[in-house]
Amino acid sequence: MCGIVGYIGEHQATDVLLNGLEKLEYRGYDSAGIALVTGRGTEQFKVKGRIDALRQRVDGQSQSTMGIGHTRWATHGAPNETNAHPHQSESGRFTLVHNGVIENYQALKEDYLQDVDLVSSTDTEIIVQLVEQISKKHEQTAAAFREAISILEGSYAIAMIDQEDSGTLYVAKNKSPLLIGIGDGFNVVASDAMATLKETDQYVEIEDQEIVFVQRHHVTIEKLDGTLVNRIPYTAEIDMTDIEKGTYPHFMLKEIDEQPIVMRNIINAYQNEHDELRLEPEIREAMTQCDRIYIIACGTSYHAGLVGKTFLEKLARIPIEVHVASEFSYNMPLLSEKPLFIFISQSGETADSRAVLVKVKEMGHQALTITNVSGSTLSREADYTLHLHAGPEIAVASTKAYTAQIAVLAILAVDTATKKDITLGFNPLQELAIAANAMEMLTDQKAVFEDLAEAYLDVSRNAFFIGRGTDYYVALEAALKLKEISYIQAGGFAGGELKHGTIALIEEGTPVIALSTQKHVNYAIRGNVQEVAARGANTMVISTKGLDEETDAFVLPEVHELLTPLVSVVTMQLIAYYAALYRGCDVDKPRNLAKSVTVE
Ligand code: M6R
Repeated sequence: MCGIVGYIGEHQATDVLLNGLEKLEYRGYDSAGIALVTGRGTEQFKVKGRIDALRQRVDGQSQSTMGIGHTRWATHGAPNETNAHPHQSESGRFTLVHNGVIENYQALKEDYLQDVDLVSSTDTEIIVQLVEQISKKHEQTAAAFREAISILEGSYAIAMIDQEDSGTLYVAKNKSPLLIGIGDGFNVVASDAMATLKETDQYVEIEDQEIVFVQRHHVTIEKLDGTLVNRIPYTAEIDMTDIEKGTYPHFMLKEIDEQPIVMRNIINAYQNEHDELRLEPEIREAMTQCDRIYIIACGTSYHAGLVGKTFLEKLARIPIEVHVASEFSYNMPLLSEKPLFIFISQSGETADSRAVLVKVKEMGHQALTITNVSGSTLSREADYTLHLHAGPEIAVASTKAYTAQIAVLAILAVDTATKKDITLGFNPLQELAIAANAMEMLTDQKAVFEDLAEAYLDVSRNAFFIGRGTDYYVALEAALKLKEISYIQAGGFAGGELKHGTIALIEEGTPVIALSTQKHVNYAIRGNVQEVAARGANTMVISTKGLDEETDAFVLPEVHELLTPLVSVVTMQLIAYYAALYRGCDVDKPRNLAKSVTVE
């Protein structure tokens, strides 16, 4: 959600900024812009729409070795050119890009900007106008910047240029991600290392409430009170091939195909030389000392949490509650005496989850984050982290992160059970390896799912997914996947719940996709399929070997019953993918969505 790139160095900034913004497209945006310091002053180029359009707009004559760029996902004000970033102060001296939400922008406007003509409807413009007003009483821009930043409330990642000082990029961060990339004769600023990996693999993290002065050969980090901060750069361990589509038409399809490899990466990462699970002793301790676990997440990660609840309750015998983060922060339930919080987040930056993390840490509770991005905010602020090892996930629709989350939750559950001397009678790593092979069998049969998508969803305006037990949780995820990329109205339901209301929506030809992978509920879900078929539904059953019937649309290869979500979801991902293709949708960048949702 929103992306920032900044460059200061010896080469042309334009390409670095545009290429960087392209790499941040996956985060979701609806307008984009760059600002360059040139011999003609600060030149801005902004468009509503895609980076391609911005490329066309940028004047090839604009030579500059310093600039800032931004992709905007609209929060305050419509997605148009006026509201697109960068924003400029009244005199044109200061130009700024911002991610996040300034909560006190109305108050700041009234207190400081009564006489300023604001041109946009954004909270961001308030910041840049504020810097200009405050700069009138300071000789140094650094002092004005610091003062302005210190009165902001809310979340922000900011990069600013001062036309009168083409040697410094002014940077600040609070609750929104931002990194400084260190180069030889240049430095960069980016929301995500992926944006500038072509320039450098050396990065410095910025912590909340720090400001940074980025110059060509030097980076100075300070706390808001002026105290200097010394921080060593780290090497970003992202492979360039992970962030390129290669021969794939879409990142989503590439990421669906990567799932078996991700399973194997997870197996390798979590086993020791004796083929046993290896988790940090502190995590084991936290898992066995708590009396209840609260899983907090959003969207697809929440759905993975539901599957994780089954593992943790059945295998490790710990009571689990799974909560949608945005609800939990405002409606906190009565907590147990020794709670442990598990945050599940692909990006590790989701603002709704972070709001809960901040609250529970203030209450003195322990937190474990399961994330794909080491060094992300949720990872840094929790007590412990388990890494997903899924590699960068670029498509907005989460696929490989979901299955990685389920695999890591399974490992965590088995490890805790072992620590509690609970006998399980199966080898989890071996079962995961079997599931990885089964996933591969599915991704090798794409044509089947392409046909199913055409037969059931090509012209449909709605679809229902049903299941029981973990199949119900996968049905929720299947519906989300279909909705977000194909815009078909879809819902996931517990099979037995349909007759309590939703069945009223079933008419002749309504697609109802049922999952049957759990022996103990096979009979019951089959009954639910009959109920909707009798009312005209176009039913499709995906079952598992051993539970299959002749009319089933697809039979999944056999895996450990607890791990069936890992394979059944692959069929759902592929069906959603092809349904979106049939409808001509932008699969990787669905409308209105952002990859990493960094506002509450
Ligand atoms: O990065 P996170 O896992 O915290 O993101 C949570 C949701 O925003 C995310 O899972 C979203 O639902 C996906 N785009 C769905 O495919």
